[in-house]
Amino acid sequence: MADPSTDWVDVGAAAELAREPVRELTAGAARIALSCIGGEFGAVSGVCNHVGGPLGQGRLDGEYLVCPWHQYKFHRKSGVGEPGYEADRVPSYAVKVENGRVLVSAKPVTKRGHLPHAPHPLARDPVRAAGPIRVAGISTTMMQPGNPRYSTSEALLEIALAHARDALGAQTQLIRLRDLAFHACEGYYSRSAKACTWPCSITARDATDQMAVVYEAAVHWADVLIVATPIRWGAASSLYYRMAERMNCIQNQITTANRVLIRGKVAAFIVTGGQDNVQAVVGQQLGFFGELGFVFPPFPFVAHSLGWDAEDMERNVAFVRESDALHAGARSLSDRAVAAATQLVAGAESMPDHAALGSRGGRKANRQ
Ligand code: FES
Repeated sequence: MADPSTDWVDVGAAAELAREPVRELTAGAARIALSCIGGEFGAVSGVCNHVGGPLGQGRLDGEYLVCPWHQYKFHRKSGVGEPGYEADRVPSYAVKVENGRVLVSAKPVTKRGHLPHAPHPLARDPVRAAGPIRVAGISTTMMQPGNPRYSTSEALLEIALAHARDALGAQTQLIRLRDLAFHACEGYYSRSAKACTWPCSITARDATDQMAVVYEAAVHWADVLIVATPIRWGAASSLYYRMAERMNCIQNQITTANRVLIRGKVAAFIVTGGQDNVQAVVGQQLGFFGELGFVFPPFPFVAHSLGWDAEDMERNVAFVRESDALHAGARSLSDRAVAAATQLVAGAESMPDHAALGSRGGRKANRQ
């Protein structure tokens, strides 16, 4: 350990450095988060314990530095974590003011420490467990608990799942997004590519965030995802987008860590609306799920819309409820999706390694 009494680095004029409550600077080779409250300086490592966020770009909450990436807190002078998490600590540096200059010890005076904790269950490698094809349906329509209504997209999804289970021998589960309490994406990736983590830092931080149900199904459990959405003003439902934004972390793993979480899995879609825009909705879904790593069966969606001019919502539910063609379409979507998944599972040994094929494409955040 350096002797702070003999080994100091001049980091600047105290009057100038006192103007900002927190700032990032370097002292020798070290990244420092220098803070100042009422003329009293504190110096700790500028590298957050969590995934390396820039503490010196954070803010103060009392005597604690708040990381700008995911809001972990460390005491601005001692580096210890917030109450209850004291063992999670960043290195601290001695700091003094002499002749109007701020001096920081060249070496830390306390060490970094990590609270031991088990990895999040989602963090395990996605390895397909043996067994029949598994089909997860995700319904993204909204309705009040206790006030059920007939949802055309969900009804077709239920038909597709029942067919997969009863006729094709698949295991199935239906996830209704409206039953899950989950946060909206906080856009950490916009701040820094590395701030978007897998498992999602929101899920890792908040055990009650039920997006874990979708992650578990999409990354670990399912061979097939069938996503059903209504059309709302020409787009998929708001719940769909809330989910899709949270699934960005799956895609960002490819970009930031060259880690492909979705391999050999199939996605298919059910889209219904009183008005049109099926092609645009499905086009967005194909683009997004393709970029997550999913592949598609031939004719990867079934859809229904009455169209702008033919809009007749008094007949819409009855039309879908009674349409043999749509019901048959939902069943054959299951057929195609399960057949494609069966082939992928059988050929898993010879599955190309996406990363080796350069599947990160032209993304720029992948340079590491
Ligand atoms: S809280 Fe600092 S990197 Fe996540």
